[in-house]
Amino acid sequence: MTNSSRLAVVTGASTGIGYALARCCADHGFDLLIAADEPEINDAAESLRRFGRSVTAVETDLASRDGVEKLLGAVAQLHRPVDALLANAGRGLGKAFLDQDLRDAQRVVDTNITGTVALIHEIGRDMRARGQGRILITGSIAGFMPGTYQAVYNASKAFLDSFAFAIRHELKTSGVTVTCLMPGATETDFFERADMLDTKIGSSKKDDPAEVARQGFEAMMKGAGDVVTGWQNKLQSAIARLLPQGIAAEMHRSMAEPGTARR
Ligand SMILES: NC(=O)c1ccc[n+]([C@@H]2O[C@H](COP(=O)([O-])OP(=O)(O)OC[C@H]3O[C@@H](n4cnc5c(N)ncnc54)[C@H](OP(=O)(O)O)[C@@H]3O)[C@@H](O)[C@H]2O)c1
Repeated sequence: MTNSSRLAVVTGASTGIGYALARCCADHGFDLLIAADEPEINDAAESLRRFGRSVTAVETDLASRDGVEKLLGAVAQLHRPVDALLANAGRGLGKAFLDQDLRDAQRVVDTNITGTVALIHEIGRDMRARGQGRILITGSIAGFMPGTYQAVYNASKAFLDSFAFAIRHELKTSGVTVTCLMPGATETDFFERADMLDTKIGSSKKDDPAEVARQGFEAMMKGAGDVVTGWQNKLQSAIARLLPQGIAAEMHRSMAEPGTARR
């Protein structure tokens, strides 16, 4: 291992946008500590090692406090500072809120919000003490719209989008930058895991995760505040921000209501 190289911690790196973010980090000379909940994280590590960097995989449930501690313990064992934290792990959940299992809805909150906040609190403090570091938070343009038939998820992303901007400004003279990556619908396992393949959004053409990650990584390296990926998503989020919330919620219904899949 080359201790002169930089270290990036990427959560949710087994698949999708997180794997692509880890790939960008490896391509730009970062060693990696990657985390996800399932054993597939070890396959992702194996695949990322082909790019010549040191890669440590941690299988841990970031929805739990113990899971966050396990990841922090793995970081401590490397005896090197974290140069970049890419807090990307997250999950969605479709269907009407009252028809969801409350444990599934709670898991969205615990993963997307509670685990992310705990991780950033600990690693962010070390970065601030060192006067340097980059934090990327994967929010979403979903945070701009009440998520009819995806209510808890959109609310969790509204939290993250807001949280990212707020701590960015708290840290603005610290040497630590915070960037919020706000993708639109992206071609990953996300919609299948959220049980949303029978919806218009779940069945429509989506963005390439490699391109989404590239834009997010570049924004993080520039220290930009946020990046909405793709012109269609920029347009959609600009409109969503201007619309009354009731109209935006109705627009979301047309995209996420079960049984509206494109044929
Ligand atoms: N796809 C989209 O349309 C879209 C749009 C905007 C934002 N996003 C956001 O992008 C991020 C990545 O999602 P994706 O689209 O790439 O979906 P994905 O392919 O399903 O990836 C999600 C990643 O998060 C990990 N994860 C989920 N719950 C976890 C937990 N409790 N503990 C540890 N790891 C956990 C998953 O690992 P396991 O499989 O091991 O659980 C996986 O590595 C999420 O924050 C999502 O909200 C996605």
